[in-house]
Amino acid sequence: MEGPRPAHCQLAALRLNASDHPRAIRSFVTRAGRITSAQARALETLWPKYGIEPRRVIDLDAVFGRAAPRTAEIGFGNGENLLALAAAHPERDYLGIEVHRPGVGRVLLGLEERALTNVRLLCHDAVEVLERHLPEDCLDEILVLFPDPWPKKRHHKRRLIQAPFVNLLAGRLKPGGRVHLATDWAPYAEQMLEALGAEARLRNLAPQGGFASRPDERVATRFERRGERLGHQVWDLAFERL
Ligand SMILES: C[S@@+](CC[C@H](N)C(=O)[O-])C[C@H]1O[C@@H](n2cnc3c(N)ncnc32)[C@H](O)[C@@H]1O
Repeated sequence: MEGPRPAHCQLAALRLNASDHPRAIRSFVTRAGRITSAQARALETLWPKYGIEPRRVIDLDAVFGRAAPRTAEIGFGNGENLLALAAAHPERDYLGIEVHRPGVGRVLLGLEERALTNVRLLCHDAVEVLERHLPEDCLDEILVLFPDPWPKKRHHKRRLIQAPFVNLLAGRLKPGGRVHLATDWAPYAEQMLEALGAEARLRNLAPQGGFASRPDERVATRFERRGERLGHQVWDLAFERL
C-alpha cells in the first residue's frame, strides 16, 4: 500500500525521474515497491529524527552532534547489517544511503525499536550524495554490500562499481579509511577488483592483491542469504585509502 510521499522522498523521486539530469551512473530504477503501513508511518513520523535532506554539503559533526569514526553503508537494502553494526558500535557513527523507500522505512522502525542514536539516513542516490553532499576525506569506512549486479550486458553501464564511482569512494574516504565490498556475482567481482585496483589512491588489503576474507562482523544480508540459497559463492574486497 503506497501512502502519500513525505517531502524528502518527493524530492528524491523528482531527482530520480529527471531524465535530463547529467549523471555518470544510474545504478537503480525507480520502483514504488510494496510498503507496509508501519513503514509508511515511520517515513512520516521518524524521518525528522533520523533523516538527512541532501542539501548543500552535509556537516557530519553537526548532524551527529559529535566527532566520531564514521561508516557509510551504500544501498543498505533492509538494513540488517547497518542496524547490527550500529548496535554493536555505539562509539561509531553510521550513515545509511538507500533509494528504496520500504527499506528506509524498515530501518527507521529498527532504529526506534533499538533506541539507536548513532545512525542517520539519506533516501537519495548515493552517486549524487558522494558527489555533491559529502565533503572530501570525511569517512573512515564505506560498505557496498551486494550492489545490484545488472547481469545483462546492455545493463553493465548501470553497475555502481566502475571507475567514476570508485574515484568518488576514494575521495570521500579519509587517508587510512577502508572500503569493503561484497558480491555473489562472479563477473561483477572481477570488475570490482579491476576498478578498485586501478584507483591510484586505494591499496588492496588482501594478501596477493586478490579477494579478501569475509569480515566476521558482517551480518548476512537479504541478498547474501539469497545468493547462498542459489548456491552462489561470495567474493569480498577490502581496500585502504592511501
Ligand atoms: C541488491 S540490493 C542489496 C541490498 C543490501 N545491501 C543487501 O545485501 O541485502 C542493492 C540495493 O542498492 C540500492 N541502490 C542501488 N543503487 C543505489 C544508489 N545509486 N544509491 C542508493 N542506493 C542504491 C537498491 O535500492 C538496493 O536496495
